[in-house]
Amino acid sequence: MSSSLLSGLSKQEIQAKIDRVPWYHEYDFPGGFRAKSSTPDTADHRALWGFLHEQLDKVDFKGKRVLEIGSWDGYWSFEAEKRGAARVLSTDDLSQNWSAGEGIQIARELLGSKIEVRQDVSVYSLKETLASEGPFDIIIYLGVYYHLFDPYYAFTQIRHLCGPDTIVLIDGPEGPALPEGTACLNFANHAIEFLPSKGALEQLVEAAYLTIEHRAEFNTDKNQPADTDPVGRKWRLKQAALALFGSREKIRQHAKQIEPYTFFARRVFFHAKGFQGASRLHAYKPPFGLECYDDRFNGQTPITP
Ligand SMILES: C[S@@+](CC[C@H](N)C(=O)[O-])C[C@H]1O[C@@H](n2cnc3c(N)ncnc32)[C@H](O)[C@@H]1O
Repeated sequence: MSSSLLSGLSKQEIQAKIDRVPWYHEYDFPGGFRAKSSTPDTADHRALWGFLHEQLDKVDFKGKRVLEIGSWDGYWSFEAEKRGAARVLSTDDLSQNWSAGEGIQIARELLGSKIEVRQDVSVYSLKETLASEGPFDIIIYLGVYYHLFDPYYAFTQIRHLCGPDTIVLIDGPEGPALPEGTACLNFANHAIEFLPSKGALEQLVEAAYLTIEHRAEFNTDKNQPADTDPVGRKWRLKQAALALFGSREKIRQHAKQIEPYTFFARRVFFHAKGFQGASRLHAYKPPFGLECYDDRFNGQTPITP
């Protein structure tokens, strides 16, 4: 942890330093200092953060050893500390966001916090980087999986940090209107590079030998079509008329009207816990060292179909 960033500065200079940081979250610090979020859609984020606060209210942090993955400016790590955690290790891979990483250090100082900060930890190398740091009672993994090129590998790395009683707190979007069991990849969309359906997300988690508990849903997307079922009577009648009398192009254009609904993202929060046993999703030895959780493959015995 770096030494003081703020000592010797006047109140005005401290606020000016805070103002130069591109914050993701917003903070009201002691002493009347304030950090404003630089996200373009702060109101939507605020609503989501309110939802996440409610979910964390149901978790007992007292005396717990907590790891956060992808913590940005540390908001949820500070929350864990505020809620009584005995140890908080707040990690991020600085190369994966638009901050310069100073916010968390300033916040730590202003809050008089004792959280440990590491900004060189990729979710893809958790096992190698943090295995000797554990065990952790709670792992916070909020708002990360949908930005990843390989969300499954990331879940397997998280599994390797779980002891028998570790709880992983996960949040991110899922696409309720995507065909069940499918997922959508769009690496050019930096708001959501990976959007799984509910079933696809469940499979990704389960295939990493994690079980889902305590699921809660929240909508933050202001672009959600007002009509929850866009394929209503009016739309169907028009589509039928076009089928009889319209051109292929007109049918295609009309069908496009329901595309926003297909890619609508609903936010979900859940707990996951590691399990040990036969996974229905792996007929053969699982990848990435996961065989140690599955008694069928511990001794490398091939299974009989
Ligand atoms: C949308 S922000 C969420 C920040 C915070 N977890 C929250 O929920 O408020 C996404 C975070 O994921 C982190 N991230 C993205 N790819 C990562 C990776 N490969 N390893 C670790 N963190 C990653 C980013 O650096 C960023 O902090």
